[in-house]
Amino acid sequence: MHERLISGTETLEDLSVTSALRPQQLEDYIGQPQIKENLTTAIQAARGREEALDHVLLYGPPGLGKTTLAHIIANEMGVDIVTSSGPALERAGDLVGLLTNLKAGSVFFIDEIHRLPRIVEEYLYSAMEDFSVDFMIDKGAFAKSIKLPVQPFTLVGATTRAGKLTAPLRERFGIFYHLDFYPDDELVKIVNRSASILAMPIEPDGASEIARRSRGTPRIANRLLRRVRDYAQVKADGIITVAVADLALVALGVDQCGLDELDRKLLRTIIDFYQGGPVGVEALAATLNEESDTLVDMVEPFLLKMGFLSRTPSGRKASQRAYTHFNLQPAPGGLFE
Ligand code: ADE
Repeated sequence: MHERLISGTETLEDLSVTSALRPQQLEDYIGQPQIKENLTTAIQAARGREEALDHVLLYGPPGLGKTTLAHIIANEMGVDIVTSSGPALERAGDLVGLLTNLKAGSVFFIDEIHRLPRIVEEYLYSAMEDFSVDFMIDKGAFAKSIKLPVQPFTLVGATTRAGKLTAPLRERFGIFYHLDFYPDDELVKIVNRSASILAMPIEPDGASEIARRSRGTPRIANRLLRRVRDYAQVKADGIITVAVADLALVALGVDQCGLDELDRKLLRTIIDFYQGGPVGVEALAATLNEESDTLVDMVEPFLLKMGFLSRTPSGRKASQRAYTHFNLQPAPGGLFE
């Protein structure tokens, strides 16, 4: 897939600055107040009992802070963190190696946990439940199973969709947190915090403009902030004002509502090719030449949240708001049949 400026997926450039911007403590974490409150209690209780925290499943669209929360959990518990991801754990031996080397109380973070191969996933069950793994060594007539101990640990799993997890895995988590898109006022705080850490001059209206056009996603807000800074430096006097932010965002293809090219293409395809819908996601993905998972995980959630799109049993439909956004009249009967 081409790289979207406002995709939630982490790029190499993001990685180099996220460590500077990523809050280390819960008190520095902006937004998701309910998660913060519940997590504070759970951590305090586990620390009081000198136990590992229960296994935690974080789910929600990309870029909302699942990895950041995993690191904060480890920091607040005062333990090590070992990180991996579903697609990286290709063989059972990879997972068993990591599990058996964990120190007592450690956080084991698996990003995109829904993409763990099924045969690898099965080794997690006993590790999570009984802190041991049965590992097969040798093959054929010499095959034997040995029980390997695992130190009590906390599995923190992250996924874009909880429904994609198998039931046996989902059932082994004790704590579930759903991360939702951030309201503008919280994104403003995040933009100002990042600008301050990166020593960027920014005016309050400039911060609001970036926040408002970041699809409710801190990772996008931080990325747009850096691109707007480039623009301010090269084409203005270095200060991020609302005018500079607007010019930069338009030049970057981010519109007034924060929609990017792919968002607009998706909506226009439903409107122009499918008379406003309903259209099945597979047909839509084929027309757009994109993976349907990309649309479902990365594009649709924000469009649904903002009311540009609706999901019906017969497929996706463009809403009245989508037509208004493009200054279009809905097709007769297209919206309300
Ligand atoms: N940077 C990215 N996400 C953040 C958050 N939720 N709080 C503070 N800083 C952030």
